[in-house]
Amino acid sequence: MASNACTFQNLTLLLIICFPLANSIDFNYPAVFNFGDSNSDTGDLVAGLGETLDPPNGQTYFKKPSGRFCDGRLIVDFLMDAMDLPFLNAYLDSIGAPIFRRGCNFAAAGSTILPATASSVSPFSFGIQVAQFFRFKAKVQEIQAKTRKFDKYIPAQDYFQKALYMFDIGQNDLAGAFYSKTLDQKLYDQGARNFWIHNTGPLGCLPQNIAKFGTDQSKLDELGCVSSHNQASRLLNLQLRALSKKLQGQYPDANVTYIDIFTIKSNLIANYSRYGFEQPIMACCGNGGPPLNYDSRIACGQTKVLNGSSVTAKCCDDSTEYVNWDGIHYTEAANQYVASQILTGKYSDPPFADKMPFLLKLKF
Ligand SMILES: *[C@@H]1O[C@H](CO)[C@@H](O)[C@H](O)[C@H]1NC(C)=O
Ligand SMILES: *[C@@H]1O[C@H](CO)[C@@H](O)[C@H](O)[C@H]1NC(C)=O
Ligand SMILES: *[C@@H]1O[C@H](CO)[C@@H](O)[C@H](O)[C@H]1NC(C)=O
Repeated sequence: MASNACTFQNLTLLLIICFPLANSIDFNYPAVFNFGDSNSDTGDLVAGLGETLDPPNGQTYFKKPSGRFCDGRLIVDFLMDAMDLPFLNAYLDSIGAPIFRRGCNFAAAGSTILPATASSVSPFSFGIQVAQFFRFKAKVQEIQAKTRKFDKYIPAQDYFQKALYMFDIGQNDLAGAFYSKTLDQKLYDQGARNFWIHNTGPLGCLPQNIAKFGTDQSKLDELGCVSSHNQASRLLNLQLRALSKKLQGQYPDANVTYIDIFTIKSNLIANYSRYGFEQPIMACCGNGGPPLNYDSRIACGQTKVLNGSSVTAKCCDDSTEYVNWDGIHYTEAANQYVASQILTGKYSDPPFADKMPFLLKLKF
């Protein structure tokens, strides 16, 4: 009897352990190389500029600032998790033997597709990120030719071809800017075959843009977002979609997947209560209170003397009720929702629903 129960228990345990594995991916990327802006920056900009991010950034998951502009994990973190891969280390975050075995993240906050200028937040525009990748790859190959000693820290040779190349950039230059030749030709020529291109979200719904461009009610749509900015996002996305199609046509042996983040985020903002949120627009961490709780003079966590008194951009009580974290970026809870929607495969072109049968655990 006892032994039966025990066997049964072990079987259950086995099932519990194996179920996620069996259901996990047929989506076998050994590594991921990511390019982008703050939406997927896992610490590159702060490392590159020698800056720090203040708490409460990072408080929800990492329990301290992690270089991410978020209270916790980003979409890219949830995607890595779903693919059974570790979080991506930032390319420029060099202290303490960073492990790049399963990929590398070149995304840096504030980065643009167009080359950076003197006033850019990030000097690491898209072309530079791709150049960094080529240097990374060359260096890895140089090391591999010499020694196996560092295998644990660097991708295996065949990973470069089998890896997923993810792009999430464009938020910082809507001026009709465009992915350049670097993406299609150079990466492909170097053997990259699997591309994911995330489109741009509804930028007009960010408190930063509403505060600046939405003071006149007539500029806002029914959700309270700046219409012209969302229109600009849509136009950029049309171009991106066309580019994805063009690339796929040009390179039949590559897989180019276009992912419609705009639709996922718009749906989240419009139908927030259905997804367990209470605040679709207002920033969780900021200054000024409703309706936006955003003050362009003080970033999340900072303290400044304004108008003679000391003011801190503080965190809301429960960030899981908010879609927006700091007026510009999404909360971990929102990122988790977006990642779970990406993983349904319904928002990608071509769709991959049948390949990704698992879902992320949501908060409800
Ligand atoms: C592209 O996707 C198809 C279908 O899922 C797959 O059979 C093929 O191996 C993929 N190509 C590459 C280069 O990974
Ligand atoms: C909100 O939900 C409704 C009902 O499902 C849907 O028709 C609508 O498209 C959603 N709004 C957005 C902006 O996605
Ligand atoms: C500074 O304080 C004055 C008086 O309280 C107020 O009228 C003004 O709006 C404040 N200025 C800013 C920039 O907050």
